[in-house]
Amino acid sequence: MKIVNYGSINLDHVYQVDHIVQPGETLLAAEQNLFCGGKGLNQSIALAKAGAEIFHAGVVGEDGDILLDALRDAGVDISNVRRAPGASAHTVIQVDRNGQNCIIVFSGENMHPSEADIDRILAGFSSDDAVLMQNELFNTPLMMRKAADKGMSIIFNPSPVNQEMLSYPLEAVSWFLLNEIEGEALTGETDPGKILDVLEKKYPHSSIVLTLGKDGAWAMTRNERFFQPAYKVKAVDTTAAGDTFTGYFLAGISSGMPIPDALRRAAFASSIAVSRKGAADSIPTVEEVNRAE
Ligand code: RIB
Repeated sequence: MKIVNYGSINLDHVYQVDHIVQPGETLLAAEQNLFCGGKGLNQSIALAKAGAEIFHAGVVGEDGDILLDALRDAGVDISNVRRAPGASAHTVIQVDRNGQNCIIVFSGENMHPSEADIDRILAGFSSDDAVLMQNELFNTPLMMRKAADKGMSIIFNPSPVNQEMLSYPLEAVSWFLLNEIEGEALTGETDPGKILDVLEKKYPHSSIVLTLGKDGAWAMTRNERFFQPAYKVKAVDTTAAGDTFTGYFLAGISSGMPIPDALRRAAFASSIAVSRKGAADSIPTVEEVNRAE
């Protein structure tokens, strides 16, 4: 099975702040850094570092060499990444003294994949393959519909979550990987057990991974539920922790690893990522995960 990731590719402008800025407040940042990011790019890099064969599909701008290099250097196939005129998508990220973040994403129209891009991407894949998606790229529901029509497996990380998403063909999703905020938006529940109960009823053909940050993670298939506690570390920057979890978990199950093992490795890789600055830069290699496990 090949996995193609239809995902965002962003330049992250990261500001180190004491606390997340409040409405009306002006705040001085202690540090500013430029990192490679985008939920799509981060997840592709995590999959590749975890040993999976991964094809990234998306768009970068004229300033996108650093982003393409990061994907290529990690071992991601970038033949489905189109270069477009204009600036790449970018983010403004605040990281506070506890490593928590908040993120604004902006991409100009030139960075939006078109229907022609989607058709070109899907031409290289078959019903034996899977498409991974987040919700940062334009035309995500169209990609979902076309991939489903082709009989591909759909893996969906509904992030960033919005109400429009409820009209996507979510019944076609094989795996949802989501956090408690996204779980609440899809179910109206806040308790993890209840989120899983509602998702089980709404999407009986899907499997679920629900991540809860320092409170661990759940995986649910049609017959079973598994819980994985979080590894305790000092958080420096939580950016891309979820993306690292997603990449390592998917690499595990796509190689035939039992779900509890894939969950444990994903939780461990993610704990390493939160102890480092940046998004893609914080994702550990498989050797680091193997060494410390
Ligand atoms: O999940 C973290 C990512 O979200 C960042 O790298 C940023 O680019 C946004 O897409």
